Amino acid sequence: MGGTGSVAYKAKKEGKKVTYNDKLKFNFFTGFALIENDSVILNESDVSFLLEKHDTLRYPTFVQDTFNETYFTDEENAWIDMVISNINLLGNKYKKAIAMHCLFQACIIKRPYNLFHRKNLYLRLNDVKRSFGNKVTWDKPFNEHFSKFVKEVNNCIFSNGEKCNALNYDVFDIPGSYDLVYIDTPYLPEKGEIIDYRDAYHFLEGLAGYECWPGMVDAERKHKPLIREYCVWNDVKKINIAFDKLFDKFKDSIIVVSYRSDGIPSEEQLVQLLKKYKKNVREVKATDFKYVLSKKESKELLFIAY
Ligand SMILES: C[S@@+](CC[C@H](N)C(=O)[O-])C[C@H]1O[C@@H](n2cnc3c(N)ncnc32)[C@H](O)[C@@H]1O
Repeated sequence: MGGTGSVAYKAKKEGKKVTYNDKLKFNFFTGFALIENDSVILNESDVSFLLEKHDTLRYPTFVQDTFNETYFTDEENAWIDMVISNINLLGNKYKKAIAMHCLFQACIIKRPYNLFHRKNLYLRLNDVKRSFGNKVTWDKPFNEHFSKFVKEVNNCIFSNGEKCNALNYDVFDIPGSYDLVYIDTPYLPEKGEIIDYRDAYHFLEGLAGYECWPGMVDAERKHKPLIREYCVWNDVKKINIAFDKLFDKFKDSIIVVSYRSDGIPSEEQLVQLLKKYKKNVREVKATDFKYVLSKKESKELLFIAY
């Protein structure tokens, strides 16, 4: 459940032999580019190749046809169709992963709320006085964002002397055994809106499997997300059982769990579940931490079980 890879990257920096995993393919590409990859970068000629329209190629128009007036302008949609097609022509798997990561970051930074949960391009284009967001960033051309992210990522690629890996499994299917397992499941709030990662970032997950994307779209819904898949981490009735099963799977490792104080399961329930498998459970509360867009008083929790 490595997400953006920030925790895995920190562990890599600390010299650990890290295995990153996430079920979503777009996240996996980030893990592959930044955690497993320890030497490959995108050079200037790679970037020129990616950002140029090649006369010899016929580019698909899937994003242009499907997401008209949804997230990006027509011109931007055409740019996305072109760049993703060029990325898929790269021969080196790590170069491809870096380029994917940069494309995803560019898409995210140009979106109000950084999400793909509504057909709301108008929020960006309307000529109104705004109290949120950054219109300059939203309107900056894709080329500029992409090139900036390439520079940034190239500077982050390093070897720590260990062979690190990136995997793309459902958490219950991860192979191997580990000294320490860091678990950061999607958070299920006691009250309020449940965020399904696959749903919120469906556009990036679609790009990550561009050729299969047409068959995965829910055409009935206005913002054209992927057809929904069941996720146990969003199921109020099953989430306690899922945590139990996960702690059982990793009972031979030190288990570190990140969660929030106003979630399901509760703080006490999580401690009880961990105590089924581990003698010692330490809890750390981050009291002065707040999510940028969150109005709620929710505390970040970290459980260390050994
Ligand atoms: C709270 S986020 C993790 C954030 C991460 N620690 C970071 O620093 O970005 C939860 C992650 O779990 C992933 N995920 C959801 N269901 C999963 C599953 N069944 N197996 C593996 N990963 C899953 C999501 O794709 C998401 O990236």
